[in-house]
Amino acid sequence: MTELRVGLLGLGTIGVGVARILIEQKELISRRLGKEVRLVAAADRDLATDRGLDFSDIRLSDDANDIVTADDVDLVVELIGGYEPARSFVMTALEHGKHVVTANKALIAKHGEELFPVAAEKGLQIGFEAAVGGGIPCMKALREGLAANAIESVYGILNGTCNFILTKMENEGADYADVLKEAQALGYAEADPTFDVEGIDTAQKLSILAAMAFGSKIKFEEVFTEGISKITAADIESAHEMGYRIKLLGIAKPHGAEGEVETVEMRVHPTLVPLASQMAQVSDSYNAVQISGDFVEHTMYFGRGAGERPTASAVVADIMDIASGFPDGIAHLAPPMGFVQSSRRDKPTMPMADTECEYFIRLMVKDKPGVIASVTSILADHRISLEALIQKERHASHNVPIVMLTHETTEGNLQAAISRITGLEAVEEDDVLILRKESAVA
Ligand code: HSE
Repeated sequence: MTELRVGLLGLGTIGVGVARILIEQKELISRRLGKEVRLVAAADRDLATDRGLDFSDIRLSDDANDIVTADDVDLVVELIGGYEPARSFVMTALEHGKHVVTANKALIAKHGEELFPVAAEKGLQIGFEAAVGGGIPCMKALREGLAANAIESVYGILNGTCNFILTKMENEGADYADVLKEAQALGYAEADPTFDVEGIDTAQKLSILAAMAFGSKIKFEEVFTEGISKITAADIESAHEMGYRIKLLGIAKPHGAEGEVETVEMRVHPTLVPLASQMAQVSDSYNAVQISGDFVEHTMYFGRGAGERPTASAVVADIMDIASGFPDGIAHLAPPMGFVQSSRRDKPTMPMADTECEYFIRLMVKDKPGVIASVTSILADHRISLEALIQKERHASHNVPIVMLTHETTEGNLQAAISRITGLEAVEEDDVLILRKESAVA
């Protein structure tokens, strides 16, 4: 039987999960493929820890170079994470004619555009389904199942840590800092939790999805990114009273005349979604991605976005895809980014000031006559119309929370109005929260 020989870089949580599937599901995999996938080698700096698996048939090394250049490896699985040395190992593996599968969203978001041309030139495949949405096959759906569509929008809850924190804050009225500690203890959070809670992890994932959706280049650094660290349990309650739930969403939309993609809108921020929407039902550490196309309309993908077993499931599915065309060729597979490399275009990112949204604004103001009139008259000057306004009871600090929902306006216009509002003597400048609302999520 034809055999695809796999070399694994990194025996951490996901690496062990991948090794476990390749060992425990061996028979299932060969029945599905009519081929064998064999783990021949693995590298990790720590070879002393017992991973609870039988590695007696596998060549173990503490040097990844042994694997990326080895003659008996057809496909390298990179599960080291981060930018370097992961980038160098992947590049060397491609240069040595090996297919690559990775779960590393940071690597693809930052260096994907260096790696894809090398892979395309050598007729090699790069699989990275596990990099976005963990075990959810959302990129396979986008690249293959939805290939007949011009994609109109992508909305995603792409970070389990943030979703866990927001869910817990809402259900228990708990403080952000306490819930973050719990998420870390449960092992959801990245090594540096700011990557999760400040939206960077979501921005990396969104930049990959957007480029795949619109045939553009990955521009992670240009994604407008705000995290969840300023949200309080009271904000979550106010949003709820107005009929919304707060989710950290990654949002990507194409803009241009007559179906042409001229600019790409990409933003990550806490977002108000209608309580009745599917997106609002996605709770705890689950992820979900809504992709809408011009023929298919709305589609939605839901599941575990992190963890050993779901992430390893996506890694092994990529390995099996590549194995199914091995060794005759990979022409049956869609290109890694869903468009042939030569047809992918460098499209500008839409400036955030030009994006249009409805807004949730929370201010803390002094309890004096005329304050609301001053605030609303500034909004009126900027032709920003209000949909709802709630004034809450006075805090112990003698400040009063005011929460407003606006109709649609541009970000530039909203920010100009906010800077005038925060200049008012009665408004506490450091205590302003602006959230964006998306009514279009399914
Ligand atoms: N830290 C990520 C999350 C998982 O919380 O969803 C890996 O992408």
